[in-house]
Amino acid sequence: MTTPRTSPEVSGMGHSMKRKEDPRFIRGRGNYVDDIQLPGMLHMDIVRSPYAHAKIKSINTERALKVPGVLAVITGETLAKYNLHWMPTLMSDTQMVLPTEKVMYQAQEVAAVIATDRYAAADGVEAVEVEYEPLPVVVDPFKALDPSAPVLRTDKKDKKDNRIFHWQAGDRAATDKAFAEADVTVTQDMYLPRIHVASIETCGCVADFDRVTGKLTVYMTTQAPHAVRTVFALVAGHVGLSEEKIRIVSPDIGGGFGGKVPVYPGYVIATAASVVIGKPVKWVEDRMENLQADSFARDYHIHAELAAKKDGTMTALRIKTLADHGYADAAANPSKFPAGLFSICTGSYDLKNAFAEVDGVYTNKPPGGIAYRCSFRVTEAVHCIERITDVLAQELKMDPAALRMKNFIPPEKFPYKSALGWEYDSGNYPAALRKAMDMVGYEALRKEQAEKRARGELMGIGISSFTEIVGAGPSKQFDILGLKMFDSCEIRVHPTGKALARFGTKSQGQGHETTYAQIIAEELGIPAAHVQVEEGDTDTAPYGLGTYASRSTPTAGAAGAMAARKVREKAKKIAAHLLECSPDDLVWEPGKFSVKGAPGRSKTIQDIALAAYTNHPQGMEAGLEAVSYYDPPNLTFPFGSYIAVVDIDRGTGAVKVRRFVAVDDCGNIINPMIVDGQIHGGLTMGLAPALLEEISYDDDGNIIGGSFMDYLLPTAMETPSWETAKTVTPSPHHPFGAKGVGESATVGAPPAIANAVVDALSHVGVRHVDIPITPEKVWRLLKEHGLAE
Ligand code: CDP
Repeated sequence: MTTPRTSPEVSGMGHSMKRKEDPRFIRGRGNYVDDIQLPGMLHMDIVRSPYAHAKIKSINTERALKVPGVLAVITGETLAKYNLHWMPTLMSDTQMVLPTEKVMYQAQEVAAVIATDRYAAADGVEAVEVEYEPLPVVVDPFKALDPSAPVLRTDKKDKKDNRIFHWQAGDRAATDKAFAEADVTVTQDMYLPRIHVASIETCGCVADFDRVTGKLTVYMTTQAPHAVRTVFALVAGHVGLSEEKIRIVSPDIGGGFGGKVPVYPGYVIATAASVVIGKPVKWVEDRMENLQADSFARDYHIHAELAAKKDGTMTALRIKTLADHGYADAAANPSKFPAGLFSICTGSYDLKNAFAEVDGVYTNKPPGGIAYRCSFRVTEAVHCIERITDVLAQELKMDPAALRMKNFIPPEKFPYKSALGWEYDSGNYPAALRKAMDMVGYEALRKEQAEKRARGELMGIGISSFTEIVGAGPSKQFDILGLKMFDSCEIRVHPTGKALARFGTKSQGQGHETTYAQIIAEELGIPAAHVQVEEGDTDTAPYGLGTYASRSTPTAGAAGAMAARKVREKAKKIAAHLLECSPDDLVWEPGKFSVKGAPGRSKTIQDIALAAYTNHPQGMEAGLEAVSYYDPPNLTFPFGSYIAVVDIDRGTGAVKVRRFVAVDDCGNIINPMIVDGQIHGGLTMGLAPALLEEISYDDDGNIIGGSFMDYLLPTAMETPSWETAKTVTPSPHHPFGAKGVGESATVGAPPAIANAVVDALSHVGVRHVDIPITPEKVWRLLKEHGLAE
């Protein structure tokens, strides 16, 4: 949508309306979990394991209970009495809440201390004495599959190895045949390391059980409050917590990015403590707990192969991957997709043959496998295809832009059925890449690079032309623990023509209060300023699956439009009644119905709203409201082309991203300013794993990168001035032609940067470097190839 249909006063789609939520944030009046103070509230802190794998011989709480202010110490034994010491993960695996026998990773929860204030709780934690007996540690996922490796999940009686799942997609035989017949094949191993979302706000909750009413309210940092309520009811139904007595409230959230989808043990322990003690209990992680124990992302060991003809036409893709999930599969993928949407790995290319397989394994690391601002393993898939495409370009001595142009799915082939089974809704990949090339001045940069090379300077240009897959999802394929992944909106128009709209999703900074109001403004003509948007309270919001994987616009946003259209249908009947004509004689323009051929005879949405309560037709129910539970017919496939330009310092190995051009296409845009904000933040979050972020472990399972001293986040110093632009290819099946956008930049940026670094060094034969591309890694390459100064 290029030109808005509504006035700035109405601010429907296409207006860069300022964010409605910002006045409270910039005044310091946000309401985060840690801002919640309840009368008599107690505080919880957690004892964590120093070992990655150890038997718990004993837990002595005596000294802790003597610490002034400490009221209780909860252990696995305490929870076992209520059968609450284990819980299901969202992937139908199981995970300890608190251990009774052994710990499985360093920083695992071992016991919890409840005290009158946070400091007393922390002192109590110091005083809990735990005796451990170390067990052999499995850190390397390849070794975990060795028949001699100790079986880690001894709690699973029938488990004889450390494999969690095997997943595959595509036609193996046809792919093998295409490889056998190919003129050229390239192979590349790549590792996408374990990283962590590191949101500004850590995780936490305030659990408040009212013994009189039997009602449990949990204020919680969750991206999916309704799903959490249902899981709580299923897990704790046997101790009397039934779903109508559970209220989950997600207040303001300081960044989720996938890390606030899982149910962490801390939430469950604080809730159990509040139920048992009968007082509110607050638990808020500190930064190191958040980094060391919460769900991680990536940790994919990928072996990729690409086959092509001599002229560069790609013919087949074959991928084998090992996924390290830690000690439990606590990812948050839709249940039929243990490897998420990794099967988008054929990317933007018209590949006729593909086969991909992923094996998930247990190791002695924190559980997870969540998405870090990406739609379930899409980042891994995109990194793989965009890197191996450059490897092929290098092998064929072809320009990487030309190779991409040659292999793109042509615009006229949409909707396009991919070799791995997806139906891409719409796309125009050559247009996005051409635009990015023009913006960056691609041909001139290639000349500059050649001149610099001749002078011994190292400069690289990297392209990533990615395709995303977001908006999970159609109920025929997508569910989490059986809950179908629709989403919802309920609209009430008040008599004075203002509206309240409630959604099943939950913003964590994306600006839903603004963009959802704009969708309704577009559909009904009620000014966005007068549409109050609410989310995140299970007592009031309609049931929905929450916000992650850029699904809000494709699902709940669509539900908003559909609910508004239902309201409009009723409004039409009321307008016909007021104008004494047939509904068929009315035409709609945003904000009013007019009689065909008599534009002077019209009723505004405000006139109609008032009539809905004061003068509605006999036989019609009063009021003006509607609900929509939207089950999308397909996912949406946003895309983009990014070009990074890097300079490498031959003295230090430091990589400087000099320029970064990002052309994105997310279909019709609701709020261009918000979309740009999403891209800017996403690009910075993409630069982070490309150059800086990694969590690794030593052979004993000790975490390396467990604090911000050594887990590096990008600052303004490392971040270039992003140059952004858009192309607009609407989604044909989405009610207003939009696709999700929140994650595109995080997905698309890392391979552009990696490709640029390799490009800078390709003339000496460097073909690949794993992210994060640290100065040390580059320095070693420079030394190896005689380029170091
Ligand atoms: O699920 P999440 O909100 O993270 O992702 P999204 O649906 O991609 O939306 C991120 C933000 O960008 C929301 O405020 C959207 O309403 C906005 N957006 C937009 O204005 N236009 C689009 N075509 C897509 C998203």
